[in-house]
Amino acid sequence: MRRSLSLVLLFALVAMSSGQGTGTTEDPKAGRLSVTGAGNVEVVPDVAKVYLAVSVTRPTANAACQQAADSTTKVRDALEAINGLAPEDVTTENYSVQPNYVYSPDTQDQKITGYTCSQSLVVKIDGVNNTSLAAVIDAAVSAGGNDLQVSQVVMDLSPQLRRSAANQAREAAVDDAAEVAQLLAKTAKVTLGPIKSIVDQNVAPGGPTPMPAGAAAAPVADATTSTPVQIGTTIVTASVAIDWAIANE
Ligand SMILES: *[C@@H]1O[C@H](CO)[C@@H](O)[C@H](O)[C@H]1NC(C)=O
Ligand SMILES: *[C@@H]1O[C@H](CO)[C@@H](O)[C@H](O)[C@H]1NC(C)=O
Ligand SMILES: *[C@@H]1O[C@H](CO)[C@@H](O)[C@H](O)[C@H]1NC(C)=O
Repeated sequence: MRRSLSLVLLFALVAMSSGQGTGTTEDPKAGRLSVTGAGNVEVVPDVAKVYLAVSVTRPTANAACQQAADSTTKVRDALEAINGLAPEDVTTENYSVQPNYVYSPDTQDQKITGYTCSQSLVVKIDGVNNTSLAAVIDAAVSAGGNDLQVSQVVMDLSPQLRRSAANQAREAAVDDAAEVAQLLAKTAKVTLGPIKSIVDQNVAPGGPTPMPAGAAAAPVADATTSTPVQIGTTIVTASVAIDWAIANE
């Protein structure tokens, strides 16, 4: 009995002294103004990925794949001749050979009409602009002719651009939070004290965006005219949560 009483006393003493030591027994939310600020930065993507598809149909698989390989080589050579594109910027993917069938009512069976040999190429262009993107599309289309299709163009941000845009968005978010806090404090007739906490919340980094059909569509096979290309913009957003101490006026 006596032993447990002295233990309780000891706990009480420890609690008192630690409370004295830090001096913070106040509610951490007391007298605070919390604001979440948002910032947006509009950037022009500096990386493009052009997805190309070479597809050839012939009576035999061998003939189809021979022609597809020839066309792919021509397209690759044309792309590698472009200033600023390295061989490793052009990669090939998704090689496939498939028979094509037609239903024959006579035999009530499927009949093979030929074979389609396909291959995709992905061209990565760093530091892209309208002119260099159009040059890549034009070179591919004029080298590949009817065997080639531009499947898709995807725009993206380089890591450096993404980083600098995210940081600009953060600055705008802090400014936004400060503006809102000042407005709220003024209207509520309280005085803003020092900032008590800042939380860097989510940054939406403007991920890869497919170019809308039409922005780089209808490439011109005629080598004398170039495809007009319009690179759009993307938005990088950031938000911050800031707590200010406040006091009544
Ligand atoms: C290859 O095929 C996969 C699966 O169908 C697809 O997601 C991918 O985009 C293709 N790659 C290219 C370069 O077309
Ligand atoms: C576009 O990019 C190419 C290749 O990087 C460069 O040579 C050219 O000067 C750029 N054009 C413009 C208008 O910035
Ligand atoms: C070229 O691209 C920029 C984005 O970098 C765009 O704002 C501009 O309108 C384009 N210019 C032309 C002539 O297409």
